[in-house]
Amino acid sequence: MLSSIEVSSSILAANFANFEADVKKVEGATDYIHIDVMDGHFVPNLTFGVEVARAIKRVTNVPLDSHLMVDCPEKLVDGFCEVSDIVSVHYESTYHLHRLVQRIREKDVKAFIALNPHTPVELLEDVIMEIDGVLIMSVNPGFGGQRFIPNALNKIRRLKELRKKSGLTFEIEVDGGVNEETYQLVIKAGADILVSGNYVFKSEDPVKAIEKLKSYKKDISEG
Ligand code: DX5
Ligand code: ZN
Repeated sequence: MLSSIEVSSSILAANFANFEADVKKVEGATDYIHIDVMDGHFVPNLTFGVEVARAIKRVTNVPLDSHLMVDCPEKLVDGFCEVSDIVSVHYESTYHLHRLVQRIREKDVKAFIALNPHTPVELLEDVIMEIDGVLIMSVNPGFGGQRFIPNALNKIRRLKELRKKSGLTFEIEVDGGVNEETYQLVIKAGADILVSGNYVFKSEDPVKAIEKLKSYKKDISEG
């Protein structure tokens, strides 16, 4: 649970021929660089592996937030833990989620669980006390620039309720279609961290875009 909104800028919408230049554009404003790792199996798109994350780590001090959209995340997780502050693994991608979450936390990295749009937040009830955050997908994972799925708001509210009921403090991150039209609704519903790709990197002034996302104050009175 955070007292102010954080932004994680997704380089899926950056210039793949020059990540460094785009990372530099958001460096003073963004809280994280969001790294969308896709394997062409778990999602119908292929992006980058740990070597790209390492290369980005070498050119910036902004913490990395790695989102693994891959089958068998166990095979990749250790490398991403070396360079990331947050590692998100999908509920739908592994048989042994509890073990995987433990493995991430043992490395002093924040373990988040990502949920596809069809996966109810209530399925996390027996692991929720072991994690640092939940990544609610508000689009189907695989591509940037998609339209926000409104039911994500309902899921954020239910997750916030679950957090309150269980007296926990995990963070709620929301990913997909977060832009000028949707960010206030997402914050009002209970988000702590907003992932944004196209809205940030395709805007004329990425810093201004991030500042806008952070300008709407969250209501922290009810946990
Ligand atoms: C989608 C990715 C998102 C994506 C968001 O699979 O997980 O992180 O980059 O991009 P926008 O903000 O453009 O919807
Ligand atoms: Zn993502």
